[in-house]
Amino acid sequence: MQGSKLIHIEFMAEKRPIRVVDSFDQFLDEFAVEVGGQLTDERCPFGVLLWPSARIVARWLVNEAPYDREAPLTIMELGCGVGFLSCALALIFPRATIVACDYETQLGRYVKANAELWGVSDRVRFQAIDWRQPVPEEYRGRADWVLGADVFYDDSHLKHLPPFARDLLKADGLLTLADPKRFRFGTALDILKQHFILKRWVEEDCDIEKEGIEDFMVNSGVLKTKVSILEFAQKPS
Ligand SMILES: C[S@@+](CC[C@H](N)C(=O)[O-])C[C@H]1O[C@@H](n2cnc3c(N)ncnc32)[C@H](O)[C@@H]1O
Repeated sequence: MQGSKLIHIEFMAEKRPIRVVDSFDQFLDEFAVEVGGQLTDERCPFGVLLWPSARIVARWLVNEAPYDREAPLTIMELGCGVGFLSCALALIFPRATIVACDYETQLGRYVKANAELWGVSDRVRFQAIDWRQPVPEEYRGRADWVLGADVFYDDSHLKHLPPFARDLLKADGLLTLADPKRFRFGTALDILKQHFILKRWVEEDCDIEKEGIEDFMVNSGVLKTKVSILEFAQKPS
């Protein structure tokens, strides 16, 4: 795939390839031209990289998932980026169907390529979905489980994502979010608690340089970070 490269991530006792963008800087320059220089956090294609929260929550779920491995779940991932977490979920839950959603349609080819590399393309599919819009009717109230990794980095996300996730879920569905605790984390948590019941909150360590994370994050000088993993249940209606 032009403009992309393979990185290798240890997951479930194997090094597995994941396709991500080759040069984020070059990609961003081209994208800035495409959007006429109007590059804001709300419309920035960060998803072509693989972010620490997705790796950490995938690894955590191997032993801490709230469902039985054999459960025939309908799972939706919001802001899926290149689809790593969706592919990981497909390996952990061999009978689950996973809809990997993002509003950047160009990410569809990454999700497809990665699902093929991991042998899960029969159960992981990409769906272009923008959580600022109403939930499409075919998905309303259908998901057993909604997940998102690093999806609170713009004020619009705080406003729109929690009610969108709630409308996707079945009455007994769960929402799992992984967040690198940037400055919006506290506000995001307050808003999430208005829509959901917080069931679990754990903090996981992430050793940036040991995780094979992209150079520009390692070169920022931050070598360790914490990722918060939050699990929510629906409030009774
Ligand atoms: C920081 S990236 C994280 C990607 C991936 N979850 C990971 O951890 O590697 C955030 C993702 O959210 C997506 N996103 C942002 N706003 C969105 C919206 N309104 N609707 C759907 N996806 C959105 C972005 O396109 C991007 O892929």
